[in-house]
Amino acid sequence: MATLVRDVAQQMVDPLDVSRAELYRDDLWQAPFAQLRAEAPVHYVEHSDYGPYWSVSSYKGIVEVESLPDLYSSEAGGITIADFVAERDVRMPMFIARDRPVHTGQRRTVAPAFTPSEMTRMSGDIRRRTADMLDSLPWNTPFDWVDTVAIELTTQMLAILFDFPWADRRKLTLWSDWAGDIEIVKNEELRGQRLAYMFECGSYFKGLWDAKIDKDPTPDLISMMIHSDAMSHMDHNEFIGNLILLIVGGNDTTRNSMSALAYGLDKFPESRAKLEADPTLIPNAVSEILRWQTPLAHMRRTATADAELMGQQIKAGDKLALWYISANRDESVFGDDADAIVVDRPNARRHLAFGHGIHRCVGARLAEMQIAILLEEMAARRMRINVLAEPTRVAACFVHGYRTLPVEISKY
Ligand code: HEM
Repeated sequence: MATLVRDVAQQMVDPLDVSRAELYRDDLWQAPFAQLRAEAPVHYVEHSDYGPYWSVSSYKGIVEVESLPDLYSSEAGGITIADFVAERDVRMPMFIARDRPVHTGQRRTVAPAFTPSEMTRMSGDIRRRTADMLDSLPWNTPFDWVDTVAIELTTQMLAILFDFPWADRRKLTLWSDWAGDIEIVKNEELRGQRLAYMFECGSYFKGLWDAKIDKDPTPDLISMMIHSDAMSHMDHNEFIGNLILLIVGGNDTTRNSMSALAYGLDKFPESRAKLEADPTLIPNAVSEILRWQTPLAHMRRTATADAELMGQQIKAGDKLALWYISANRDESVFGDDADAIVVDRPNARRHLAFGHGIHRCVGARLAEMQIAILLEEMAARRMRINVLAEPTRVAACFVHGYRTLPVEISKY
């Protein structure tokens, strides 16, 4: 009987349902996406753990959807394939999940924290911390790159951005890991635990806010938000929601890019040799690693009206998953070697890992700077990362990343 139930369940698995977590846990997502791009770049999946949805898997399709933000809303159904359920979930108001005009005003509140001049101001601190971290690593001895380097450096970067109390910085990681895990919606107990962490995060930031409210402006995100005009239109919940957005937005993504550079360059030794021989390739290599990894596999939109998308009829209310992870391997844009890391790929910067259009990642410059500094400081030490075993991967179709990556560093 148990075998029969299992057999029936297996027969019901749709091989083109690319929302299945095991595809990412086992690194088996490439083939179904290649098939989708070739045969059905806009494809309707009727049954999935997240209900029916359209898969948009080509570069062209995603750019079209993200260029029409009024037709394809971020607000109507949220930004991940997991639906928001009013009686079950607590909505955290964030501008990533708002449409115009509210999105425009709130994004403007935080954008000044990511200007080129702010990046220059933060770069010294980030470089010093990165250098200290690399100098503390053991040579020719196994350790886990994810926890020791990728998580720690990302957490430090965010703590600098928020002027967050240094000793408590790992709280940022904890809260963000809980906030960003879409698999949690499937488990009631975990949902309750997540809520408790979000309250803890909210009250901690309330304390930081209170400490800065009557003070002169300082160059950190909290102070910037307090002293911006748009802030006067934001209530406490929106302030906390947007802070959580900034932590979550920068956390897994930057962390998994830093793990990808270790794993990916080891996997493509010719590219690594080229980069080691010519560090001026670092800026392009950063884009290429982001393209190859695509730390957020998808974002979601909801159609606000009937529409046609690449020959398919979309109905008002339909959910669309925009698979950046697939667009970034689109042969028609990146060629037949799109699955490989090519550090001098001429159009690496065209990747969609940061999205496209009005919601394109506001923290992109900061992430690129942190990853570039890590590569530069590694080059300065002639440090090579050797991967000792396959990583364990995050089992989810949203955050695309690594849980552990055993490595050893050596000199080249
Ligand atoms: C938006 C990716 C780093 C904050 C986004 C979007 C993507 C993305 C795909 C959404 C675009 C859309 O919905 O169309 C990444 C990647 C990163 C990264 C791959 C690192 C490699 C960061 C950092 C921060 C950040 C460091 C801030 C500390 C945000 C925010 C938004 C956003 C606030 C919302 C923008 C809006 O709705 O206007 N990011 N991100 N991200 N990201 Fe990032």
